[in-house]
Amino acid sequence: MSPLVESVVRFLRSTVGTKVLMALTGLALVGFLVAHLAGNLQMLAPGGKAPELMNAYAAQLKGLGPLLWIARIGLLGTFALHVALAIRLTALNKAARPVPYAYESTVQASWGSRTMILTGSVVILFVLFHLAHFTLGFTHPEHYALHDAQGRHDVYNMVVAGFQVPAVAVGYGLAMFVVGLHLSHGLGSLVRSLGLSNPRLRLLTQRLGVAVAILLAVGFALIPSAVQSGWIQPSTSVEGSNK
Ligand code: HEM
Repeated sequence: MSPLVESVVRFLRSTVGTKVLMALTGLALVGFLVAHLAGNLQMLAPGGKAPELMNAYAAQLKGLGPLLWIARIGLLGTFALHVALAIRLTALNKAARPVPYAYESTVQASWGSRTMILTGSVVILFVLFHLAHFTLGFTHPEHYALHDAQGRHDVYNMVVAGFQVPAVAVGYGLAMFVVGLHLSHGLGSLVRSLGLSNPRLRLLTQRLGVAVAILLAVGFALIPSAVQSGWIQPSTSVEGSNK
């Protein structure tokens, strides 16, 4: 191994390097969430346009074929790396301080990282359920089987039918709250993790991070809330439940 590669590997294996990689993979996942929310907000398009917009968008994504699979593998890999780094960072922190603090509740970093582990675990459980729900159609196969008049996967009516189940809508609402907590802490400490120490820049990005986290959580939670309140209704252009 060349000395340069060796020092890069040593850096990436260090606590600081692990934190930087966590911040970068976290940022990439936030990028996915911004794009995912932008796509999902088409559910709220006025004038009866939402079903067409949503189903055309989903069909377009599917039409990407191998590119979609490359993006999915990239997304899954980034998610898995983020989780693996979190486990490694926890182990490194434990190894660095085998004796716990006497007054643990006063130690902000310890409280913060513990919250991140807890909220992060809930996010993992949510994503597993979410994939089984909308991507694989395991939880409600009758919703997943819907097709529109043009024979496309009826993602609009699948989402509406999904959130008409009160327990599912409430579960998503709670999960979005936890996603918001995880993002606000993660984005809030991003600049510190990247090693930048300017206090004004830190404060600014901390506030910006919290604002982005709130916008994402509220934006996602709008969809189940809109279905439960009747603002979003099923569209009548459904051709049948089993095409
Ligand atoms: C109320 C909020 C949400 C709605 C309505 C929603 C809707 C959907 C739908 C309909 C799909 C399947 C797309 C298709 O196969 O055509 C999907 C996939 C997915 N969603 Fe969400 N989603 C929401 C929130 C989230 C959140 C908060 C996360 C992450 C924390 C997330 C992560 C994913 C992932 C990883 C996929 C799989 C992407 C793929 O297969 O290409 N979603 N979502």
